[in-house]
Amino acid sequence: MQCSWKAIILLALASIAIQYTAIRTFTTKTFTVCPVPNPANCSLGLDPTDSPDRLCEDNQVQNLSRKVHILILATTRSGSSFVGQLFNQHADFFYLFEPLYHVQYTLIPKTPQNKNTPDRRVMLGASRDLLRSLYDCDLFFLENYIKPQPVNHTTDKLFRRGASKALCSYPVCDGLGPTDIYLEEGDCAKKCVSLNLTLATEACKDHGHVAIKTVRIPEINDLRALVEDPRLNLKVIQLVRDPRGILASRTETFRDTYRLWRIWRATGRRPYNLETGQLTMICEDFFNSVSTGFSRPSWLKGRYMLLRYEDLARNPMKKMEEIYNFVGIPRDANVDRWIQNNTRGDQSSAKHKYGTVRDSAATAESWRLTLSYDIVEFAQNACGELLTQLGYKTVGSPQELRDLSFSLIEDRAFTPFW
Ligand SMILES: *[C@@H]1O[C@H](CO)[C@@H](O)[C@H](O)[C@H]1NC(C)=O
Ligand SMILES: *[C@@H]1O[C@H](CO)[C@@H](O)[C@H](O)[C@H]1NC(C)=O
Ligand SMILES: *[C@@H]1O[C@H](CO)[C@@H](O)[C@H](O)[C@H]1NC(C)=O
Ligand SMILES: *[C@@H]1O[C@H](CO)[C@@H](O)[C@H](O)[C@H]1NC(C)=O
Ligand SMILES: *[C@@H]1O[C@H](CO)[C@@H](O)[C@H](O)[C@H]1NC(C)=O
Repeated sequence: MQCSWKAIILLALASIAIQYTAIRTFTTKTFTVCPVPNPANCSLGLDPTDSPDRLCEDNQVQNLSRKVHILILATTRSGSSFVGQLFNQHADFFYLFEPLYHVQYTLIPKTPQNKNTPDRRVMLGASRDLLRSLYDCDLFFLENYIKPQPVNHTTDKLFRRGASKALCSYPVCDGLGPTDIYLEEGDCAKKCVSLNLTLATEACKDHGHVAIKTVRIPEINDLRALVEDPRLNLKVIQLVRDPRGILASRTETFRDTYRLWRIWRATGRRPYNLETGQLTMICEDFFNSVSTGFSRPSWLKGRYMLLRYEDLARNPMKKMEEIYNFVGIPRDANVDRWIQNNTRGDQSSAKHKYGTVRDSAATAESWRLTLSYDIVEFAQNACGELLTQLGYKTVGSPQELRDLSFSLIEDRAFTPFW
């Protein structure tokens, strides 16, 4: 007797659950239902207590799979807007740009300098709860953190709303008609005044998948509870960049916060009160995450991809394909077109400091022309282990630093593990 009664009843329950999922998911266009397992034969070795989703995975029915939840785990000035666009431009993705801004802003308006404060733990807990709700398309959960608090589920204070294509398209944007195409960020802010969160939630549900970009989660270990959450299907794309490049870019962009680095660069003297944590924290967080990824823990199987910004900048099409292979979703012609339009180095259309439009390949190593050798040497000492880990070469002299004819980026393949 292969199948016990208990197993059959459990299977029956599982198929009811599947049908329930089917009813819910029929309302959205891109997903299809997992096949109902045949209760008459248990000999396939399927564990009847598995969730329907697990049965689905075991059956290797990849394109019938459920919703994918993408998290782009990044840090400021590492190219995360660019990576975000690879999902924002895809017709099946609902994309949100940095929703955790609101959590941080509400809980700790000042960025914490110390790593292990209770503040930080509270913020991470709240961030995980918010992410979980957003992946479930519950955008109302954001209302707890938006100031002033939205009235009638409507707000005009969503951070960088304009960076989300879905939120700047009909019908979520009140200033647009059904035939209008979506607006670019600047126009979106002008034309789409208030955001009706009910409509935004509906738009999220109409898309097959959800992608969120954040620079407010320090490392992959902070996400373990979400990665292991069976209600989610989380895939993390960890974006890293040469910390010397990040430092150079932040020094240009965050002129106040990185003022002392600018003074160092200009005078050749290192200010005694320089906040070296601004650099070392990047390296520590990267190092912890990447080490965790390299150790291939079972909880990250098929759920972690390490992406160097420099590789994406050098070969955006190829990297984009790798990303979509990892995610397990077909690419979209909109994404191809967007890459073609935005990686040719057409500076005339570059917009503002957070823009994604730039000559990507050339800017990846342009820090070598702007940082002083002193600063580079300091960074190499502070982040030596990480540079080796990620395949970024160090330089030994100012001449080597400025000689762009040899690249500091070693060829490395960081393939996801399954
Ligand atoms: C399972 O059942 C189906 C139809 O009832 C049958 O065609 C198939 O061969 C069975 N599979 C196994 C592995 O017994
Ligand atoms: C699954 O995807 C493959 C190729 O991507 C396609 O050939 C096949 O028809 C799809 N199956 C279903 C059931 O949609
Ligand atoms: C909220 O909705 C109520 C009932 O529809 C309405 O009376 C009120 O004016 C609305 N408040 C705002 C700020 O729009
Ligand atoms: C928001 O959109 C929903 C759905 O269309 C609508 O019922 C609701 O009245 C809208 N809210 C406001 C404040 O306009
Ligand atoms: C690419 O650029 C062309 C010409 O500027 C424009 O018409 C088109 O909408 C752009 N496509 C995308 C996907 O940005």
